[in-house]
Amino acid sequence: DLSPIDKAKFVAARRATQFVESGMRVGLGTGSTAAWLVKCLGEMVREEGLKITGVPTSTRTAELAREVGIEVISLDEARWLDLTIDGADELDGKMNLIKGGGGALLMEKIVATASDQMIVIADSGKEVETLGAFPLPVEVIPFGWQTTKLLVEETLIGLDVLGRTTQLRMNGDAPYVTDEGNHILDLHLKRIGNARQLSLVLNQIPGVVENGLFIDICDKVVLGHGDGRVEVRD
Ligand code: A5P
Repeated sequence: DLSPIDKAKFVAARRATQFVESGMRVGLGTGSTAAWLVKCLGEMVREEGLKITGVPTSTRTAELAREVGIEVISLDEARWLDLTIDGADELDGKMNLIKGGGGALLMEKIVATASDQMIVIADSGKEVETLGAFPLPVEVIPFGWQTTKLLVEETLIGLDVLGRTTQLRMNGDAPYVTDEGNHILDLHLKRIGNARQLSLVLNQIPGVVENGLFIDICDKVVLGHGDGRVEVRD
């Protein structure tokens, strides 16, 4: 038996499989909601003859996809995808997102951008009026990360945000390392007044690889509720 939040994630993931058709190249997201999706798609491949190739957004998702029987190819083999389905940490009314709580934002953003369509699956608790309560993940090159952190903090001074503390993400005693070998700074901004501007200026800083704001990338949102209801927005 699933808890209400897991049920919400599961029903959103299951509903999103309706947008997947045989022959598609599908970007597979990362996180607990995306894991439900990969499991549902695996079942459809094994039991219903669905024929898809998957491009995973993390080593974790690649492992799971193979385990459940989905053929996995790299983005370079696929070049372009029909559809990416992924979770999110926060989403607003304009379908802008914060992603990267699971540390996979860089590959997730590359894969989503390479797709004709991106669908976000989430429990309804992820929906917010304004982005920013969830700390914004920013992927940085390990070389000089302390300097990059200072530059990020300095950049935040001129911007429409409520909080300005930044924190190096840790994995026990050592800095967290992403699939691409980088570190993550979590930006505690509380409220992001202008997400588009913030995303642009963060990516101007040397040492910043990418940030977790997904602006104008998501085309459709499938929101699950704890009682099993699902809402689809586009
Ligand atoms: C992974 O890097 C994130 O972008 C995930 O999509 C996000 O953390 C959502 O995860 P859950 O589905 O586990 O909430």
